[in-house]
Amino acid sequence: MYKRIVVLVSGGGTNLQALIDAEKCGKLGNGKITCVIASKADAYALTRAQENGIKTRTLIRKDYEDISSYSCAMRDLLLEEKADLIVYAGFMTILDENVCDAFQYKMINVHPALIPSFCGKGYYGLHVHEEALQKGVKVSGATVHFVTAECDAGPIILQKAVEVMEDDTPEALQKRIMEQAEWKILPKAVQLFCDDRITVKNNKTYIK
Ligand code: GAR
Repeated sequence: MYKRIVVLVSGGGTNLQALIDAEKCGKLGNGKITCVIASKADAYALTRAQENGIKTRTLIRKDYEDISSYSCAMRDLLLEEKADLIVYAGFMTILDENVCDAFQYKMINVHPALIPSFCGKGYYGLHVHEEALQKGVKVSGATVHFVTAECDAGPIILQKAVEVMEDDTPEALQKRIMEQAEWKILPKAVQLFCDDRITVKNNKTYIK
């Protein structure tokens, strides 16, 4: 039986697209994207899913009073969808232990920097690249890691470095990191997970 992949999104969904394309080429191993859940009703990622015949649902963050009630609702939705793997693909809400404990080492996130640099609360989307340029790093990149209740602190699965150019804008750096790193390592990590090749020991991952 294949593994049911549920993808969480908030925005444009280019990482979702990379996953859809990988699945079409048979590169998600034993995995199949069965549902896309958005935290925002106008997320373009929903259109990408619909165009590819994937079931969509929305769970709007603004409809919930706090992160705990939102997390409980998300946990129930994920259980209903019988998710074997949950992928944060540009999902901009930090879910609490109500979800993370129910799906320990079954949730992965792509972050647009080399963790532990430029990560944690407040580091998302373009802000990450603004900070990297502000600091003057010569190399940045992307990280795929397991999600735990502590933001961006779960075991690292894959990382890829990308060169920073002297005349980079946050937008240019974001685009290069997506093209050269995120769209490659996210589908790869999903494939490794779906083929049962990742184990976790002492907060570190090992790839078989
Ligand atoms: C991506 O760069 C992703 O790594 C980042 O937001 C962008 C979403 O793009 N995620 C975070 O910053 C999470 N902390 P997408 O919607 O086109 O995939």
